Amino acid sequence: MNNSELNQRRLAATPRGVGVMCDFFAAKAENATLWDVEGHEYIDFSAGIAVLNTGHRHPKILAAVREQLECFTHTAYQVVPYGSYITLAERINAIAPIHGPAKTTFFTTGAEAVENAVKIARAYTKRPGVIAFNAAFHGRTLLTMTLTGKVAPYSTGFGPFPGSIFHAVYPSEHNGVTVEQSLENIDRLLHTDIAADQVAAILLEPVQGEGGFNVAPPEFISALRKLCDEHGILLIADEVQSGFARTGKVFAMEYYEEKADLITMAKSLGGGFPISGVVGRADVMDAPGPGGLGGTYAGNPLAVASALAVLDVIEDEKLCQRAQQLGATLVETLRSLKAKCPAIVDIRARGSMVAVEFNDPQTGKPSAEITKTFQKEALNQGLLLLTCGVHGNVIRFLYPLTIPDAQFSKALDILTRVLTQ
Ligand SMILES: Cc1ncc(COP(=O)(O)O)c(C=O)c1O
Repeated sequence: MNNSELNQRRLAATPRGVGVMCDFFAAKAENATLWDVEGHEYIDFSAGIAVLNTGHRHPKILAAVREQLECFTHTAYQVVPYGSYITLAERINAIAPIHGPAKTTFFTTGAEAVENAVKIARAYTKRPGVIAFNAAFHGRTLLTMTLTGKVAPYSTGFGPFPGSIFHAVYPSEHNGVTVEQSLENIDRLLHTDIAADQVAAILLEPVQGEGGFNVAPPEFISALRKLCDEHGILLIADEVQSGFARTGKVFAMEYYEEKADLITMAKSLGGGFPISGVVGRADVMDAPGPGGLGGTYAGNPLAVASALAVLDVIEDEKLCQRAQQLGATLVETLRSLKAKCPAIVDIRARGSMVAVEFNDPQTGKPSAEITKTFQKEALNQGLLLLTCGVHGNVIRFLYPLTIPDAQFSKALDILTRVLTQ
């Protein structure tokens, strides 16, 4: 079956609400390379939306999952538990930047992790409110689309929405939003919309993913920590996209002196298998009563086996260092292209969480159109790139950190051609 036949079947059999970026269908993938059903080859800089920091089909991950396949594939941890779940929790507890003893629980998707972090925060504080940020992305479930700070397409037509959720502006040097302005905005919310003693949590991505790879300045995290401590509010870091070596640390929160009370994780934790989790202060994590947390597939044994192998690969192959090195090379390339590509208005990076933002040079306004043209031309030349940003005018780079040097150089050559022609 070719791409066009599959596309026709897709349009007839599946709803348009599941927007699909590519008009070709996957047949095979290996590390940073993906082949479609017609044999076309692509360098995969999307990595299944930040899931494959360890690449497609890493041999160690496949071996771990195969081994687990031979034992059992599902028992439901809450019915018959298994040791690997505990081992994974212990390993996450040992490396997560959490103050004091930590505990971890697992789920299946990123949205589920965020929902559960909010449940845990509400159970601990006995308060309803959550302050999230504009341009945030936390998922597509009812609660997480409400926490998400972008309306179209995520929450269009899906109301009414859960209450007690408020949004503040996220600091962004490029957009002229200072840390002071963001903090003033939160202060105003606490006077006009919800009293501080009714706020359970402040939820933020230390590097906004979908929102355009905006990096939280250290003074912002310090001020949020102080504010939370003053008012008994919990700080939740959503590391679903930034986690597991992408930023050059296992968790992006390691860049800051202050710690979050809860951290959500998913995506690259599973190396291609669906698993998410919440790690947090043990006293906070123990707030919900027995039966309050979990899920039928939560902490599926195949995904747990994969996640344990992912942690090994990150360590063995020094993927944090690799993320720093690849990110620095990419930023250097983008900077060198800036003079030749007047549409480039900003380059942002934290390790290998690198993004480039485009405006229309004629109007000086954000241009999703120009960004899409670059993305499309890169795809024509065999490089799969993702866009992001509230205005859709940012290209984000999410290559596997295991990508061979030669292939990375080839991808940068394509990028150079695309942005300069
Ligand atoms: C920061 C962040 N949180 C939560 C989610 C939701 O994860 P999932 O799509 O696995 O539900 C995403 C997904 O892109 C994300 O980037």
